[in-house]
Amino acid sequence: MQCLGKIADLREKIREWRIQQLKTALVPTMGNLHAGHLSLVEQAKTVADKTIVSIFVNPTQFVQGEDYEEYPRTLDKDLSSLDILGTDLVFKPEVNEIYPAGLDEKTTVTVTELDNIFCGAFRPGHFAGVAKVVVKLFNMVQPDMAFFGEKDYQQLLVIKKLVDDLCMPISVIGLPTIREADGLAMSSRNVYLRDDERKVAPLLYKTLNGIAEELNRGEQNYTALEEQANQTLEQAGFKMEYLKIRNASDLGEPAGSELVVLTAAWLGDARLIDNIIIKR
Ligand code: PAJ
Repeated sequence: MQCLGKIADLREKIREWRIQQLKTALVPTMGNLHAGHLSLVEQAKTVADKTIVSIFVNPTQFVQGEDYEEYPRTLDKDLSSLDILGTDLVFKPEVNEIYPAGLDEKTTVTVTELDNIFCGAFRPGHFAGVAKVVVKLFNMVQPDMAFFGEKDYQQLLVIKKLVDDLCMPISVIGLPTIREADGLAMSSRNVYLRDDERKVAPLLYKTLNGIAEELNRGEQNYTALEEQANQTLEQAGFKMEYLKIRNASDLGEPAGSELVVLTAAWLGDARLIDNIIIKR
């Protein structure tokens, strides 16, 4: 497994692969890899000739006061997990390689309407930071395919939209959320949970499942379902940011054949996000 930190070296390697007409897949990550990240790499490997994983804790997607400095960094362990899976190339640039002119660049990437609701409303500027770094990575690697988790559902929609709107020749593939045995969605931020909070945390997904059951049974009073779930979770100690039932394709008002229930909530120092997709 090759491990590169410079864009020029990365481009050189990719150029060789393109000459050989090999299909490439990119899996962008911020490291601290768990089974959720690794499932993306495994899937990428089944469809691409060469799988590239980027590890970059992107400063521009952290809003002021967030955990950029404390974000868990476990490079050696990550590299060994990726090596075992047979990853072809890891790109792990320094911040000044990705942002040579500083973090306050004049070019911005905004997917309007999707970027200022739900997580975007609570983390202003977050999706602009995500969109920016993903576009940069796409331009550096120019992959045929890119793999993302449905766990970050709004992020997945933002990336699909920008790839479409900017005519990027990349298939964006979303894959299901990988969970702990008790249902908690795997996340690098779960380490912030204290033992007692960790025991309560699975209630988030359990509540989403409860709503899915009601919707499958034909319940249409979305507001009542949302309010009840908010209340249950607040009572259990969650500080709710949002829990909403939406159209899965664009997060508009619930209608159509696929709905998504999205939530973000704080439990102690951990901000947890999760969602469930309902096909009707
Ligand atoms: P990160 O949080 O490291 O996640 C990298 C990828 O792994 C994302 O596509 C995310 O949706 C996926 N992922 C995380 N937890 C998962 C789980 N439990 N099951 C399945 N997939 C999961 O998301 C980011 O990094 C960044 O915003 C990034 C896209 C790399 C841009 O900086």
